[in-house]
Amino acid sequence: MKTRKGGCVGVPWISVDSLRVFVPSWLTLSELEISEMAKLWRCAVIGTSTVGHTHVKVLSQLENTKLVAVCDLNPEKAKAALERHGVTGIPIYKDQTEMHAKHELDCINLATPSGVHMQSALIAFEHNVNVIVEKPLEIRIDRIDRMIDSAKKHNVKLAYISQNRWQEANRALRQASEENRFGRVAYAACFTPWYRPDDYYLAGGWRGTWAFDGGGAIMNQSVHAIDLLQWIAGPVARVSAYAASRIHAKIEVEDTMSASLRFQSGAFGSIMGTTAMYPGSPVRIEIGGENGTAVSEAGLKVYKFRDERPADKELQDRINASAAGQSRGAGAAADIGLDLHARNITAILAAWDEGKDAETSGEEGRKSVAIINALYESARHDGAAVDVG
Ligand SMILES: NC(=O)c1ccc[n+]([C@@H]2O[C@H](COP(=O)([O-])OP(=O)(O)OC[C@H]3O[C@@H](n4cnc5c(N)ncnc54)[C@H](O)[C@@H]3O)[C@@H](O)[C@H]2O)c1
Repeated sequence: MKTRKGGCVGVPWISVDSLRVFVPSWLTLSELEISEMAKLWRCAVIGTSTVGHTHVKVLSQLENTKLVAVCDLNPEKAKAALERHGVTGIPIYKDQTEMHAKHELDCINLATPSGVHMQSALIAFEHNVNVIVEKPLEIRIDRIDRMIDSAKKHNVKLAYISQNRWQEANRALRQASEENRFGRVAYAACFTPWYRPDDYYLAGGWRGTWAFDGGGAIMNQSVHAIDLLQWIAGPVARVSAYAASRIHAKIEVEDTMSASLRFQSGAFGSIMGTTAMYPGSPVRIEIGGENGTAVSEAGLKVYKFRDERPADKELQDRINASAAGQSRGAGAAADIGLDLHARNITAILAAWDEGKDAETSGEEGRKSVAIINALYESARHDGAAVDVG
């Protein structure tokens, strides 16, 4: 990942439409050799508050992105996000359509409440603009399908943020799974034992509602871990779940869920998610079977295989040294850092530069929401088994 601050200071750039061309200082224009050429992505952020400010910062720092405009129903939030990151001269809009009318954009980064993602994404697609959406992609499968179809119809791309895929411990689990190092998997699970105070649900006016959050601890918080679980352990076939609000009296959705799973592979599993366990502890992802077990929890806690390799211990030590002290959202929504968002966005744009879908494409983002909707359906029927659609 390259940022303007990291390694490109003082390098002269010329912009030719949406191409940004690196011009070494020792060359005259007539001698111009293009030593690096990458598309410059002209971007706007819609929704600039708790996580939206992260997009403002990342898009104003990556070398292949240019923050062109920001949009928020509450312009004060947009102003605060720009000021927070020292970004000046960026126009602020309340109305997305007006922003599209005034600016040529290549990409919209959407960080609005989850239940209004579709409406902004469809407007962007109508303007032939690519869209990166904060997790969850949307709260209902029919809406996600409309987003996927509309992106295809307008020949643009859709991707979502799942920044923890860029945590090295989770990548290690995924790679071991791809290499079949676990052998026949017996069990895989994710636990999100987090805490949010009542104030968190009261702020914003949309959290903890079925209409705009699409659920509670599972749709909003555990979606991160559920996305990782299905990415590492494969598709979930059937679920059985119990859910309730245990400590947040004023929310209509669950603050705690416990579920049993059967994967398409035949393996069993669990999902636990809560925002009711003060003070909040790190997410845990685990997978194990006939030839090995691995656990990601604030680092790479377990990484043991029958076919032990010298590199395994080195990898575990290196990851654990760099992960020390990271809580990644356990106790507060804003506690997520910026580096992983930058990596996620960089990976999306790199795939799009090559005309490919991102690893976190619309189709991929649909999978975790399908599992979550099945979990809710089961919980509404007192744990009855439900197939994942
Ligand atoms: N990746 C992560 O770690 C992470 C962390 C927090 C939130 N999120 C996700 O990001 C999204 C936003 O969450 P948040 O906590 O930042 O919410 P928030 O309430 O803090 O911010 C939402 C912002 O969107 C604005 N807004 C609402 N509707 C709008 C519209 N139609 N057009 C323009 N602006 C609009 C609001 O004024 C507000 O400033 C959610 O989908 C959430 O799940 C992701």
